[in-house]
Amino acid sequence: MMGDRTPGTAARSIGEVLAQAAPARPSRFAQSITGSTILQIAAEVREMQARGEAVLNLTVGDFRPDQFPIPAPLRDRIIEALEEGQTNYPPVAGVKELRESIQALTRDDLGLDYPLEGILVGGGARPLIYSGFMATVDPGDKVLYPVPSWNNHHYVGLAGAMGVPLPVSAEKNFHLDRDDIAPHLADARLLVLNSPLNPTGTCIGRDALRGVAEAVAGENERRAQAGRRPMFLIYDQVYNTLTFEGAEHHTPVGLVPELAPVTILVDAVSKGLAGTGLRVGWAVGPPPLIGKMTSMAGHFGAWAPRPEQIATARFLRDREALARHRTTMNRALMDRLGAIHRGLLAMREEGLPVEHIEPQGAIYLSVRFAVHGRTLGGRRIDSNDDLRAALLQGAGFAVIPFEAFGFEGEDGWVRLSVGAVSVQEIQEGLARVRSLLSGAS
Ligand SMILES: Cc1ncc(COP(=O)(O)O)c(C=O)c1O
Repeated sequence: MMGDRTPGTAARSIGEVLAQAAPARPSRFAQSITGSTILQIAAEVREMQARGEAVLNLTVGDFRPDQFPIPAPLRDRIIEALEEGQTNYPPVAGVKELRESIQALTRDDLGLDYPLEGILVGGGARPLIYSGFMATVDPGDKVLYPVPSWNNHHYVGLAGAMGVPLPVSAEKNFHLDRDDIAPHLADARLLVLNSPLNPTGTCIGRDALRGVAEAVAGENERRAQAGRRPMFLIYDQVYNTLTFEGAEHHTPVGLVPELAPVTILVDAVSKGLAGTGLRVGWAVGPPPLIGKMTSMAGHFGAWAPRPEQIATARFLRDREALARHRTTMNRALMDRLGAIHRGLLAMREEGLPVEHIEPQGAIYLSVRFAVHGRTLGGRRIDSNDDLRAALLQGAGFAVIPFEAFGFEGEDGWVRLSVGAVSVQEIQEGLARVRSLLSGAS
């Protein structure tokens, strides 16, 4: 039946109504959700670039496709899958061919043998982290995670959980160890770890990870005897193939297999294959939990697109092409991270107030500008946001302070991300920073 008005005769347009009305108050849950600070900073950078100002954009954890393209054989296989007509719903758990490729890759890369029922494909890592939280945590449950770290505080909010952020420091390579988690184990439900870590670019060492894994396994043994629900572990390893000389990637289940029934491993094509926009990720874990996460995905969707699933399955099986891509990509990352490392080292040797951690993995570098209480580019630096603004306005050097990753110390640590910049642009940006720091008073 038609409404009261015939189309086109409405007194006011939808646009007018929306512009004039007070916004309808959303749910309490929606009110509690906040957007990404990183994206806000990135918007400021884009505005400066639009005005024609020289900015070295080290902010977003993404790639510029002209600097870091996806592997050509993967791109070709996506086109091929589309031409084959692979455009209908994929199975909720992911196409079998891809789950088999992930199963083989997990075995060959990480030495971990999982059944096919323990593998779930999703639209990138995010929906799998989300469903991992929802499959393990009840509202109010305690979730332990290191800070700084990427987005854990947001997932805690989505799950209605109680976050227990555990600060990590440069002295411990920005990772947790057994001593850090021990005081919180008795009533924790979930521990979330990420290595190589966003934002620090550091890899958790074998001993630290083994210590943490053994502590969780010990806690679960006590709970099993008392008939209590166990503690779970989400291990986000989206950067696991992006490690550099001297750094190694380890998994908690590789070191302590007893953790297999409670551990969810998360990975994706987003970082290792530079395919952030393709939206293919996977979770590997115990079949009962993966089964529940699959059921959730069936309702909220967020599946990986079918053509990308088919193409990824075929690409991951082409081990020569995969190895070639990894060599090229890691070299390109090291060119950039190495250029920053050498540039900052030279500044430090000159006596400028900067220190950093040598590149280990991911696409990030941790840098500390020790200028609090001083003046930089005419701006007094009292907070990390002052520092960020001074670097951006005074040197066109765009960085993200660790605060954006839940860290609360005003001590000058920031993240540099190199996926969207060339070596040439880095050299120019470093020269501007050097001259800014030289004028610090
Ligand atoms: C540690 C970590 N996990 C997961 C993601 C998100 O991955 P995806 O884009 O596949 O959802 C990111 C993105 O920056 C990340 O840094």
